[in-house]
Amino acid sequence: MPDAPVLYVLNGPNLNLLGEREPEIYGRETLADVQALCERASPGWTVIFRQTNHEGVLIDWVQEAQTRAAALVINPAAYTHTSIALLDVLKTLSIPIVECHLSDPATREAFRRHSYVALVAAKTVAGHGARSYELAVRAAVELAQERGLA
Ligand code: DQA
Repeated sequence: MPDAPVLYVLNGPNLNLLGEREPEIYGRETLADVQALCERASPGWTVIFRQTNHEGVLIDWVQEAQTRAAALVINPAAYTHTSIALLDVLKTLSIPIVECHLSDPATREAFRRHSYVALVAAKTVAGHGARSYELAVRAAVELAQERGLA
C-alpha cells in the first residue's frame, strides 16, 4: 500500500493557550481538541500537528513541510500580521497553503486587518472558531488532490 499523504498543520504563538486565552474570542476548545478535529477531517492522511511560540521555529517547520507534505494548513497567529520572513518562506512552497484563523481578524482591531500570509495562501478560512480548522483541512486535502499531490 502506498504511504498516506502528509498534511502539516502549523500553529503560531499563544495558540498553546487555546481554551483559556480570551475564550470569548477564541473559544473553549483546547489545541488538543483542534488536533483531534483535524485528524478526523482528513481520513487516510497523516497529520503532523505542531505549535510554537517562536518565529524561526515556525519557518523551519514550513521548510520541512515542503520536503514532506502534500499540503499545509497554517494559523500563524500574530505573525500573520507582522512576519515578512514567514511570507518569504511560504513563497518557496509548491504545495497548497491554507491560512486558518479561529476568529475573523478582518473584523477586529485595525492592526489585524493585514495578512502577509493571504498573499500566498490558496484559501483563507477565518471566523468559525475551532471549525475553521476542519474547513481548512478539508480545503487543503481537496487542493492537494486537485493538483495531483495526493
Ligand atoms: C488568530 C488571529 C490573530 O490576529 C491573533 O494574533 C491570534 C489568533 C486566530 O486564530 O484568530 O493569535 O490567528
